[in-house]
Amino acid sequence: MKITVIGTGYVGLVTGTCFAEMGNDVVCVDIDTQKVKNLKQGIIPIYEPGLEEMVLRNYKAGSLNFSTSLNESLLGSEIAFIAVGTPMGDDGSADLQYVLGVAKEIGQSITQPIVVVDKSTVPVGTADKVKATIQAELDKRGLDTEFYIVSNPEFLKEGAAVEDFMKPDRVVIGASEEKALELMRQLYAPFLRTNDRFVSMDIRSAEMTKYAANAMLATKISFMNEIANICERVGADVNNVRIGIGSDSRIGYSFIYPGCGYGGSCFPKDVKALSKLALDVNYSSELINAVENVNDRQKLVVSNKVIKRFGEDLSGFKFAIWGLSFKPGTDDMREAPAIYIIKELVRRGATVSAYDPKAINEAKDHYLKGVDVDYCSSKYEATVNADALLLLTEWKEFRSPDFDELIAQLKNPIIFDGRNQYNAFKLEERGFEYYQIGK
Ligand SMILES: NC(=O)c1ccc[n+]([C@@H]2O[C@H](COP(=O)([O-])OP(=O)(O)OC[C@H]3O[C@@H](n4cnc5c(N)ncnc54)[C@H](O)[C@@H]3O)[C@@H](O)[C@H]2O)c1
Repeated sequence: MKITVIGTGYVGLVTGTCFAEMGNDVVCVDIDTQKVKNLKQGIIPIYEPGLEEMVLRNYKAGSLNFSTSLNESLLGSEIAFIAVGTPMGDDGSADLQYVLGVAKEIGQSITQPIVVVDKSTVPVGTADKVKATIQAELDKRGLDTEFYIVSNPEFLKEGAAVEDFMKPDRVVIGASEEKALELMRQLYAPFLRTNDRFVSMDIRSAEMTKYAANAMLATKISFMNEIANICERVGADVNNVRIGIGSDSRIGYSFIYPGCGYGGSCFPKDVKALSKLALDVNYSSELINAVENVNDRQKLVVSNKVIKRFGEDLSGFKFAIWGLSFKPGTDDMREAPAIYIIKELVRRGATVSAYDPKAINEAKDHYLKGVDVDYCSSKYEATVNADALLLLTEWKEFRSPDFDELIAQLKNPIIFDGRNQYNAFKLEERGFEYYQIGK
């Protein structure tokens, strides 16, 4: 099939590349001319395991192309995916300006029947707005070109995006016309060969499914962080409690790790957007609001522990940070707890030396721009003469460090473990002062 993917970010680039990998003819469009230029030269804008080689292979083979011209790319396309950003607006709702801007351009460009698929995460009712926007442009052009709107929320996880896309847990399709649904079924059939996890429904339910999924996952995280904070105060060990409850198959082990809060491009904005979506229909969602409040508080739990140990004034102290990205496997730092923790330490006069396997450039150029941080090229370089180590992202290379080396490097053998990675290592017996979440 000939496919246009509009927006070449985490979702668009992975989507376009994986469709190309399955033999489709794909053009990925973006308004960012530098990004498109780089992609054509083989420079991949994001880090995602397995993505680079797949992009290069398909670009070389001609099944994947990049363009800044939506108009030209749409020529002959059977399907157009909208995969642009839906950032948080001033009032907490999803900002639809990019989605509707693309819809307008589609209406100004199409000359043949097309299925327009919304892959961006959008509030319930957006498909109607996209449809009306395209129709208004066609009316202006005096055309009655056939087009169908489909909602296809994306569930990929950054850090495992290619794997998730190639072997999805499910593909959710919201469609109101059988013709569009059938096309989507055929498009996704190669990804669902071993097990049919194609879930079709009405468009509004599909739009809502994405918010419900993210809100559920964020709720599990905030719930466990709340339990951790209570454990800490009543002398219980959350690491034991986690195993105790996870073994109940109704609860399960996934997403109940206590930590320093969730971040990323999705949970923070989607939880907020769901709360706003509810408010817009006069419903105050107490649970969803609490999920967000607990997370905001959780992001400062590690720095609060540091302040409790070293005092309100941190001048003269140096802290080593391991991990900047909001989770392992990605260079994405959007809403990462590290941003909040580092800013708080630096604001209080501390010196910070940081190491991350992938996210240092993101930190330097965007999220910690202007903040005085010494970036290091290895994890042990960051710990030299530091008063304590703060572990903020559970990258694999941090999971089993050389603790003797750490004792030798650190000024004080103190670890603040924001991801509860080291509770099995009996750090106190090895001479460390060890702080973790929920104990
Ligand atoms: N990142 C994730 O893990 C993830 C997972 C599931 C769903 N989503 C959702 O998918 C959507 C995209 O997220 P993302 O992380 O890929 O965003 P992103 O910011 O990485 O990428 C968006 C891209 O769209 C481009 N763009 C903006 N306006 C455009 C236009 N008019 N024409 C062409 N390109 C345009 C931008 O230049 C940018 O490259 C969001 O709604 C997000 O909530 C993201």
